[in-house]
Amino acid sequence: MLKTGFIGWRGVVGSVLMKRMQEENDFSRLDATFYSTSQAGQKAPSYIHGSKRNLQDAYDLSSLRTQDILVSTQGGDYTEKVYAKLRETGWHGFWIDAASSLRMNKDSIIVLDPINAKQIRKGLASGVKNYIGGNCTVSLMLLAIHGLLEENLVDAIQVSTYQAISGAGAEAMNELFQQFDYMTRQMLTKDKVPAKGLGLEKDIHYALTHCDLPTNKINGVLAANLLPWIDKAVDGGRTKEEWKGHVETNKILDRATVIPVDSTCVRVATLRSHCQSLVLKLKEDLSVREVEMRLQRANPWVHLIPNERQDTLNYLTPIAAADSLKIKVGRVRKMNLGPEFVQMFTVGDQLLWGAAEPLRRTLKIILDRNETL
Ligand SMILES: NC(=O)c1ccc[n+]([C@@H]2O[C@H](COP(=O)([O-])OP(=O)(O)OC[C@H]3O[C@@H](n4cnc5c(N)ncnc54)[C@H](OP(=O)(O)O)[C@@H]3O)[C@@H](O)[C@H]2O)c1
Repeated sequence: MLKTGFIGWRGVVGSVLMKRMQEENDFSRLDATFYSTSQAGQKAPSYIHGSKRNLQDAYDLSSLRTQDILVSTQGGDYTEKVYAKLRETGWHGFWIDAASSLRMNKDSIIVLDPINAKQIRKGLASGVKNYIGGNCTVSLMLLAIHGLLEENLVDAIQVSTYQAISGAGAEAMNELFQQFDYMTRQMLTKDKVPAKGLGLEKDIHYALTHCDLPTNKINGVLAANLLPWIDKAVDGGRTKEEWKGHVETNKILDRATVIPVDSTCVRVATLRSHCQSLVLKLKEDLSVREVEMRLQRANPWVHLIPNERQDTLNYLTPIAAADSLKIKVGRVRKMNLGPEFVQMFTVGDQLLWGAAEPLRRTLKIILDRNETL
């Protein structure tokens, strides 16, 4: 059995990965060791079949280099501290990572196997050792519009995202709860009858703008608000999250012709599942029905929601998409911009298809291949 080390298993992506691996009985196929940057020596998770070892130190290169495969959902800072040094020790194992640090490197493949299984298998055959999960919105978008991409019908993409706070990690989630808690406690003090309507808005606005709310992790007030900036600035007035939309999409698709992707990425105060409003410029004037048919049949995860009020309100929401591998696509319609333009809204669990699931499936591809060699 291949020795496989897990770093970052208690974070939000890591927890979802662990859950999926248990559901699919993946741990029975590998020899697992669990690492931590903060809890080395403590008990490893007892729910993992066969794991009796304590947590190992995630910075101990001599321990890491005993593994055939390392799966990191720890974050970019960890990858930047450890990965290069580990390779310098002569370690040739597989590095599977959720962080963006290595995604655009020439010797890395961004993994999303329903879209680029051929690229992954070719990489394995030619000795590529780094398999990196894509940006959450990119992976969800590519799966949502798979049916149009596979027939090469997409000319250009414009996307506006509505990204949940769990996309920023466990501590950011906790901070949002603290902001909401603070806000409601300000409103519901014992001797104060809460105001209503605009009076309520005034009180909340005052609490959110004049009080010392925790903002270290989120970098702003998100409670009862939204933040149209994710990650750092890059060239062209874009954020890094927006830049990823173009470069990662095209690296995954790996085609001779680049598809331009322009995004505006927005953090909203939802908890789990990212939404995206997509404008696609198609190469043909397809009817709504022709678009929907292609989206529906491309892969088993797209779940088409009729462009009707109640269906949309019930099923095309972050709450409806959370903890599910289904990628919901709805509000499909033609646009006044021109006959080749089509608009749609999609929502999917960014912790599953946007993060953990492509890593889990890549690990499985590597294990399958090892068993047949
Ligand atoms: N969140 C997403 O939707 C998403 C999507 C795609 C990619 N990614 C990428 O995946 C990587 C991991 O992201 P993440 O969102 O899973 O990060 P996270 O929740 O912040 O977890 C990362 C690590 O933080 C430590 N930690 C500190 N306080 C914690 C707490 N209260 N609860 C749990 N863990 C805590 C844990 O490490 P120790 O056990 O070592 O202390 C944990 O493994 C990042 O590179 C991120 O960019 C995330």
